[in-house]
Amino acid sequence: MLTGNIQRNESGELCFAGQTVRSLAEEYGTPLYLMDEDRIRSNCRMYRDAFQESFGEGSLSLYASKAASFKQICRIVAEEGLGIDTVSRGEIHTALSAGFPAEKIYFHGDGKTEEDIRYALNARIGCFVVDNETELECLQREAKAQGIRQKALLRITPGIDPHTYEAVNTGTVDVKFGVPIADGQAQHFVEKALSMDVISVSGLHCHVGSMVFDEMVFEDTVDHMVCFMKELHDALGFTAEELNLGGGYGVRYLETDKTVDIPARIRALAEHIRQRVAEAGLPMPLILMEPGRSIVADAGMTVYTVSTVKHLTGLKNYVIVDGGMADNPRYCLYQAPYTVLSVSNAEGQEEVFDLVGRCCESGDIIQPGVKLPADIRHGDLVAVCTTGAYNYSMASNYNRLGRPPVVMLQGGKHYVAVRRETLEDLCALDV
Ligand code: LLP
Repeated sequence: MLTGNIQRNESGELCFAGQTVRSLAEEYGTPLYLMDEDRIRSNCRMYRDAFQESFGEGSLSLYASKAASFKQICRIVAEEGLGIDTVSRGEIHTALSAGFPAEKIYFHGDGKTEEDIRYALNARIGCFVVDNETELECLQREAKAQGIRQKALLRITPGIDPHTYEAVNTGTVDVKFGVPIADGQAQHFVEKALSMDVISVSGLHCHVGSMVFDEMVFEDTVDHMVCFMKELHDALGFTAEELNLGGGYGVRYLETDKTVDIPARIRALAEHIRQRVAEAGLPMPLILMEPGRSIVADAGMTVYTVSTVKHLTGLKNYVIVDGGMADNPRYCLYQAPYTVLSVSNAEGQEEVFDLVGRCCESGDIIQPGVKLPADIRHGDLVAVCTTGAYNYSMASNYNRLGRPPVVMLQGGKHYVAVRRETLEDLCALDV
């Protein structure tokens, strides 16, 4: 099976995290997001232990909450000792409401408003990741007004191609994030930040992309960043104490995808960083990373009920389900691949179908060309695997569909972490 938490029992029925998918669907209804709490915890521990072993005290792995943000996931991440990366007041509020320690909240984003900045300062979050000079000026102004000295990292664009899909490339010089090293802007940015009396610059941040499989991407990033750190040291006498390398490790959506051995990668990366900083004559900085997808993706599965099946003779076969692009827009946006499984025994004859949703547009495709039982029909259940990252968090109410609940699976038990949106919820903001 694709991931260790997906199995079939002796009668061929699909199980997730040791529980029968059909009985969960019967109890909670569909569409349904399932999340394997034990898997989230073990993924967090994998990062925590690898960081401890490779970087030691003070270095920290953060969970990028854009991948999936709701209170229970914040509680789990906090219990596992990670920090959290947020990009909006909403994500900060969610973390704080879950009791997340404010000092372990990092605030990202290229378009923070003054209100966002005031809110985050007021909440005493640990660190701003400042994207640009305008934000820097605003942060200085607001921090001064609130009488706060604020820790900050500065977001730098290293000029690296992460070899991934366009929408998630954030490292090349032409992206909208951060300040580029190439034309001297980044040095000016750091110089300006250092001149601000209520901003304490602890180091640099970069993030080159998501779904990164290529081993050399992080190493290349380190090379560019250490070279820039050396320039800063020589030109401004500034030594970065922290280096945040962003998130991005790829996960398996298909059986044919590679597995990234994250602890091994982190060990090799630590070695590489040590070598490079030694060559540059710099002290080893504290290292931060902020994985999102690799913490929650394989902890997720979405379950749908088949509404109808259409055979367009000589053209196409469709399986239409009770969800779609509203709960998973990733195929529509990125042609993202997914593994699709029949919940009931799948040993009989199969046929190829496009798995599509119920939204009123032809582009509402969850996954084209998937193999499902030839006799699949109304009322059958279908599961889409590896939906823990960027599914719930990117879901919408398109066509006024309510978002599915998130049901957590833990040690053979299950509980609702986010309830299903009701018709009343859908009108709750209307006046
Ligand atoms: N840090 C920063 C600054 C980021 O921009 C991101 C993701 C991460 C960390 C986490 O990256 P991860 O470990 O999850 O790859 N909606 C897209 C993904 C967008 C990723 C944006 N930034 C998708 O569904 O594939």
